Amino acid sequence: MVLPIYVYGHDALRADTEPVEENSDALQQLIDDMIETMYAASGIGLAAPQVGRTERLFVVDVMPMADESEVRDLPPQPMVIINPEIVAESEEQTEFEEGCLSIPEVREVVPRPQRIRLRYQDRELNDREIEVGSILARVMQHEFDHLEGILFTDYLSSFRRRLLRRSLRKIAGGEVDTDYPLITKDGEKVPAE
Ligand code: NI
Repeated sequence: MVLPIYVYGHDALRADTEPVEENSDALQQLIDDMIETMYAASGIGLAAPQVGRTERLFVVDVMPMADESEVRDLPPQPMVIINPEIVAESEEQTEFEEGCLSIPEVREVVPRPQRIRLRYQDRELNDREIEVGSILARVMQHEFDHLEGILFTDYLSSFRRRLLRRSLRKIAGGEVDTDYPLITKDGEKVPAE
């Protein structure tokens, strides 16, 4: 089932998240729904708070963004990442223009560490640890931030944020055309265009 995505301004995106303690049919259903929603929205990552949930969980599939050399080194996609911890990050940073399904039509350059080591559990709650770089490291840090209540716009200068203020207000009110359903700041459902 495609779930509506909560947009900028809704408290769900800033709420505290909870570790996933045990597997269940409900958890597996949520994971399936999040993957379906990510694909329906043509996203490359989706975190639980974006569908109004508090589980420390995100899904990614960076295949559409990976270049040929990266595809070879990628773990099988999509990936389900539960209870993640960033245990190391490179000093080297890269810049990349990020977007977010919760902030449609806004793209801004954000610097982040180029590589990270991530400890997490997979969808069967097996412990895993991987080191990733490039686009996968980028998306995983963005999705990890969602679990901490952080949005990429939080990293912008107050000047850049001021320029975006009008767009962000429109997004919060659902005045934006998306091909996926939204929940506005005030909890109103907006169907897909
Ligand atoms: Ni996002």
